[in-house]
Parts: sequence; C-alpha cells; structure tokens
Amino acid sequence: PRVAIVFGGRSSEHAISVSTAGSVLRAIDRTAYEVLPIGITTDGRWALTADEPSRMAITDGRLPSVDDIAESADGQVNLPVNPVARGEVVYTEPGAVPKALGEVDVVLPLLHGPWGEDGTVQGLLELSGVPYVGSGVLSSAVGMDKEYTKRVLSSFGLPVGPYTVVRPREWADEARRPEVRARIAELGFPVFVKPSRAGSSMGITKVSDPALLDAAIEEARRHDPKLIVEAGLVGRELECGVLEFEDGPRASLPAEVLVGEGYDFYDFEAKYIDSSDVQIPAALTADETERLRTLAVEVFEALACEGLARVDVFLLADGSFVVNEINTMPGFTPISAYPRMWEATGVPYPELIDRLIRAALR
Ligand code: DAL
Ligand code: MG
Repeated sequence: PRVAIVFGGRSSEHAISVSTAGSVLRAIDRTAYEVLPIGITTDGRWALTADEPSRMAITDGRLPSVDDIAESADGQVNLPVNPVARGEVVYTEPGAVPKALGEVDVVLPLLHGPWGEDGTVQGLLELSGVPYVGSGVLSSAVGMDKEYTKRVLSSFGLPVGPYTVVRPREWADEARRPEVRARIAELGFPVFVKPSRAGSSMGITKVSDPALLDAAIEEARRHDPKLIVEAGLVGRELECGVLEFEDGPRASLPAEVLVGEGYDFYDFEAKYIDSSDVQIPAALTADETERLRTLAVEVFEALACEGLARVDVFLLADGSFVVNEINTMPGFTPISAYPRMWEATGVPYPELIDRLIRAALR
C-alpha cells in the first residue's frame, strides 16, 4: 500500500511532529509500504519532503522543521489531499497546475497539537474519503481539549483531578478577574496553568506563589485563549499505551516518567532537550499495573478513540489513579514512551506501524 506520512504543522509542537515522523520513516517496513512524506510548514503550506530521517531529529538541542526539508524550498503551496479527487494526492507549485502524486491508500497523520491532532485534519480526510490512522473528528477534538476530556471522562465515572476553566471572555474582562483568581486559589497552590488545547507541555507553568499567577495565565494564553488550571497532584506520573488489535483495544505495559534533575516538572525542556527519561515497564505491583491497563482502555473507549492513544495518569499515595490527559497521536520520537512501551509489551516498532495502518484500512 501507498502511505502518506503527514507531519509538522502549524502547532507549537511542529518540531516534535517532525521528530516523530523521522522515527516512523526509519521504522516503517519499506518492503510492505511505499512511503510519501508530506510536511506542513509552520505557516500551513503543504510540501513533499525529503525522505531523510537523519534531518528530522532533535540534534544537540536544535529543533527540526519542515521548512528545512521541503523538496522545493520556495513556496510549496499544496493541497495534499484533494477533496474532489477521493484519495488522489495532489501538490502544486504556487500558481501552477496541481501535480498529482498518485493514489494514496492511507494517510498517517503524525501531527501533534491543534490543526492536526484535534480533528481538523481528520475532518479533511473524512471529506476526501481517504482512510487514515487514528481517532476520528470527535475523539480527536475532545482529546485535544483538556476541559472536554475531563468532562467526558467524569461523565463515564472515570477519575480526574480538581480543576477550573478560565474562559477567554472571563479573563478579557478586568472586572471578572478577581473572581477567577479566587476560584483558582480554592484549588490550593501549587497549581498548573495550562492552555486547554496544546501539547508537549507548551505554555504550562507550575505556580506556587499566587503573585505569579497572572504571568502564568498570560503565558498560557499565548497558546490558547481558553485555559485550564489544575490542582497540583502529589503522585507518580505514569503513561500507558493503547493500541487497537483485531479484537479491540489493548493496553501496553506502563511507563513511569522520571523527571530530570533540576526540573520542577516534566516541561518541554525536561522532555525533549534534557535528561528526563521514562522507565519501562514502570515499577508497579501486578495489581497496580492491571488496574492502570484497565483504566487506559476505559479512557480509550469513553472517548471513542480509534487506532491508538497514550493515556497519562497520576498514581496517588492512597493507591488510586487520576487521569491527567490523553494523547490521540502520542509522540513517536526516539525518547517517546509510546513505541517503547509497545516494544516492551512484545510489539516491535515496525509491527506497531503495520498494526496502525491495518487498523485504519479495516
Ligand atoms: N504531545 C506529545 C507529542 C506527546 O504527548 O507525546
Ligand atoms: Mg499531551
């Protein structure tokens, strides 16, 4: 089959998506699949890119970008999936006649964050009638939005932590800000101030001192006008992969996040630039592991996910789990937990990609 690997994109997780795609390009079985790498630049232009994973990695703290690996350096204004042509991928030079790249059997949208992991690209692919890997429009949109993730999970009786939402109009109105600050203070410091729709810890600040709250809110608002403020939970940070098999979703062995020395929490720098690591499998009791794997599949089902997801949780001192978030297109970078958790569970990387593509084609 012919697989279009779509990556990069307009979100602040652009570089992580490029790194994810680089890893997948390395691992995909070339004897089984013909690969078409299609990058989306940070300003939203689509381009056929070089098939060179070595130029797509995070190297010495330098973040990769689609702009650096686009085949035609000047303006690749492309419509990769032509909604009219049903599965025909076309790409154009600016002002030129679209050049067909041929039929594509399936799209692997390796995009993180808004305009990619949030149902927008999934909607484009639905319109185009092209099969794609991963969750559909609704699950992607809900999974991207930390408020709606919590609302849906709560409605299914699944555990989430205390939080409050700061809505755009509320913060824009100076007169309403004291009430917002009071609501946040009720959670008890420290709190985590987060953009409601972002990933890779972008725009997140841990606030221990109420005097620093407004600055944290402004920082998060650079990523999303809607914010979520969560009570800081004291517990172990764990991740669990879910993958759709022929007979339904299954959970991987879990991973535990070990935040690098000198970091207050698992922020972007700690994650991708520095020494943080994940321990796989997490050192949990058999009972804890089983409960976590069951919970991860319940979260996947509650959000009606498809294909894959990574469920991130906290294990509290009393032995209970609280769901932190879900990633409907988790990172596949060399340090990312998702593919490594599946390796540890007995699904090697090429087989993982193969299973994802086969699930999309079912
Ligand atoms: N949002 C990043 C890519 C992750 O959760 O892995
Ligand atoms: Mg995330």
